Amino acid sequence: MKLFIDTANVEDIRKANDMGVICGVTTNPSLIAKEGRDFNEVIKEITSIVDGPISGEVKATTTDAEGMIQEGREIAAIHPNMIVKIPMTVEGLKAVKVLSAEGVKTNVTLIFTANQALLAARAGATYVSPFLGRLDDISQPGINLIEDIVTIFENYGLETEIIAASIRSTIHVNDCALAGADIATIPYSVIEQMTKHPLTDQGIEKFQKDYKAVFGE
Ligand code: E4P
Repeated sequence: MKLFIDTANVEDIRKANDMGVICGVTTNPSLIAKEGRDFNEVIKEITSIVDGPISGEVKATTTDAEGMIQEGREIAAIHPNMIVKIPMTVEGLKAVKVLSAEGVKTNVTLIFTANQALLAARAGATYVSPFLGRLDDISQPGINLIEDIVTIFENYGLETEIIAASIRSTIHVNDCALAGADIATIPYSVIEQMTKHPLTDQGIEKFQKDYKAVFGE
């Protein structure tokens, strides 16, 4: 499973990129708004840090296919690595069809059912983003959705890649890898947690103590 970082914060993107563990970035209107920066400016900076797929979403206020197509073309023109993120609606699917025919890569977001993922794949989406955490939040096991989409895409040889999104914990990451998601997009806090285990810390402490006892500082 490949790992993307889910943020528009360039400091967090730099830290994860320096670790060598991420190969892409996803953003959304809430994440861009959180940074309080101009969309194009922040996206351009991200493309200068990570050499891989960068998802930039159409404006939250653009809901018609024509508007999404126009914005999608503008987002794609920012950099060859740009992926146009489009919400899962009828208008969104129409936009995906047109953009994918033009060779623009798309990521259909806000996927909460396997049927939505199937529709997005058939419309030509490069990626689908099922949201685990938000399903868990309403007491529906999000991981079941990932498993269903993996099975359906395998059944029919669909090439659309599955980005497990709305990841809230290291357990989510582990479960998504077991389920066969192509990618998990993860906040920096969870990436950092993934590096940790108490026995790792204890082991480092013991190695240092034993070494210093014989060789000193
Ligand atoms: C995915 O592409 C979204 O940006 C993100 O994963 C949403 O996560 P949230 O439910 O924690 O906001």
